[in-house]
Amino acid sequence: MSTLDLFGDIEQSGSGNVRFEPSGRRITVARGTSLLEAARAVGLPVAQSCGGFAICSWCRMQVLSGWENLSPIEPPEARLIQREQFAGNERASCQAEVRGDVTVTTRYW
Ligand code: FES
Repeated sequence: MSTLDLFGDIEQSGSGNVRFEPSGRRITVARGTSLLEAARAVGLPVAQSCGGFAICSWCRMQVLSGWENLSPIEPPEARLIQREQFAGNERASCQAEVRGDVTVTTRYW
């Protein structure tokens, strides 16, 4: 398993394990790392056009487990979810920060 420490010391800030299906790729990331950043770190492509500002919706991921281990949905993402009619298990990966173990997928992996 890979380890990604984008925002500081994992030991001090906490970490989470992100598993990507159907490939089964996994990575341990520092708390606060976005799902988008984690996917890219393991070499999985993630569509986007807005640069991570909760506008395009292309980065959406389905959360298979660990929904409670992601950061709360903030107003910009909530507006996006409503406008683009996300399914109940979908998050904008550029907005969802890892706070524990989570398993995700997309429609195109
Ligand atoms: S990258 Fe555009 S909404 Fe996430």
